[in-house]
Amino acid sequence: MAGGGDHAVRVSVGRVEDLPTDRCVGAGDGSVVVVRHGDSVVAFRNRCLHEDSSLVGGRVREGRLACPQHFWLYELPEGRHTGGHGTLTGVEVEIDDLGEVAVEVPDPAPATSIREWLLAHARPWERRR
Ligand code: FES
Repeated sequence: MAGGGDHAVRVSVGRVEDLPTDRCVGAGDGSVVVVRHGDSVVAFRNRCLHEDSSLVGGRVREGRLACPQHFWLYELPEGRHTGGHGTLTGVEVEIDDLGEVAVEVPDPAPATSIREWLLAHARPWERRR
């Protein structure tokens, strides 16, 4: 997996030809954006390098993705910022023989019970006594 955390789940995003050519879309829980790039597809963590905002809905034109907030531009397929501020974190994309696209979406942290939370925060306090 490229650029993700330790755990990821594979999420289907439909067929290549069903993805819009003029804007990116969110995948899974919205932590990933999927961008059609010609006959191929690329995906990135959904965090603009400017202010960590969502890139979902950003326009894709002439091989570039524009952040919908303040229009920072990223070159496709690498996701490199045109002004030299770095590169978006890539996410693994798989396209099967039928053109079905799947992306690796970070698995959300498991829910923590209130008891576990209290125990985790009580131990350091006990040690200070
Ligand atoms: S948050 Fe993307 S350009 Fe400002």
